[in-house]
Amino acid sequence: MREIYLKAPAKINLALYIKGLREDGYHELQMIMQSISLADRIKLKKKSGGIVVKTSHVDLPTDEENLAYQAAEIFFEDHPEISEGVEIYIEKNIPIAAGLAGGSTDAAAVLNGLHLLFKKRMNYESMRKRLEIIGSDAPYCLEGGTVYASGKGEIIEELPFIGEKYLVVVTPSFKISTPKVYKLYDQLEKRYDSDFEAILDNLKNDNKINWNLDFKNDLKAAAEKICPEIIEIKDIFKNTKAKFTMLSGSGPTIFSIYSTRKEAEKVAAKWPRKNDFVTVVKTIDKY
Ligand code: C5P
Repeated sequence: MREIYLKAPAKINLALYIKGLREDGYHELQMIMQSISLADRIKLKKKSGGIVVKTSHVDLPTDEENLAYQAAEIFFEDHPEISEGVEIYIEKNIPIAAGLAGGSTDAAAVLNGLHLLFKKRMNYESMRKRLEIIGSDAPYCLEGGTVYASGKGEIIEELPFIGEKYLVVVTPSFKISTPKVYKLYDQLEKRYDSDFEAILDNLKNDNKINWNLDFKNDLKAAAEKICPEIIEIKDIFKNTKAKFTMLSGSGPTIFSIYSTRKEAEKVAAKWPRKNDFVTVVKTIDKY
């Protein structure tokens, strides 16, 4: 086998709770992560040596800064017996720096794909550990699905799939720096009166999601201060039949869930802000 094609799905957060600041400067989190059908496409092709990254998106770095490049570096470090290298082509469909784990999912897909391409034994547990170095969301992206993630985001507990739901995902063209959002969060006033356990209990034990539970994103206030367009987008969603609307990760992506695909498509077709990235997607199970 000389080449392999991979799909790298994006994620949204159905809940993002911040429990406090850790000694390592990161934040202790409790999140519900969910994979969606919006995905990058990746091609890995063997070459005589070294790592080369090519992409369809001009804003994406192709050097060591690219998380997919870092994943390939880790793979070849772990397998010094391999003399060949790889060319990675990323068809970028997931908006960049948008709170959808676009970079992390490329990294996870590349690490997984290189094991397949070079026929190396795969151990998901150790691959997840290696992906922690790349980013807090990267271990989750290895298999996706509906997951309870804690710690920095790297401690993963699988939950029952919430089922196929249709969403409209909207990303304004404004790119958000995740560290900047967390820093501003630290400076803002906080309230800790929330009940994450009730959400977990609902997702683990009930057949139907109770959207009236506190499915909040603690980064909301900080993200809205940095990117006020988030508020404009939420106001547009308010006038639709959305069952649930929320900010994903550190933003600026907002998504709304609808009862049917038709309703979601209607909202997307009439979207009034012309510079936004707007797409209709569905939730997907573990891959
Ligand atoms: O882990 P990752 O590189 O994706 O994180 C990007 C930034 O987000 C970190 O540098 C940090 O500022 C912030 N972060 C955090 N706590 C987490 C995850 C990320 O403060 N649990």
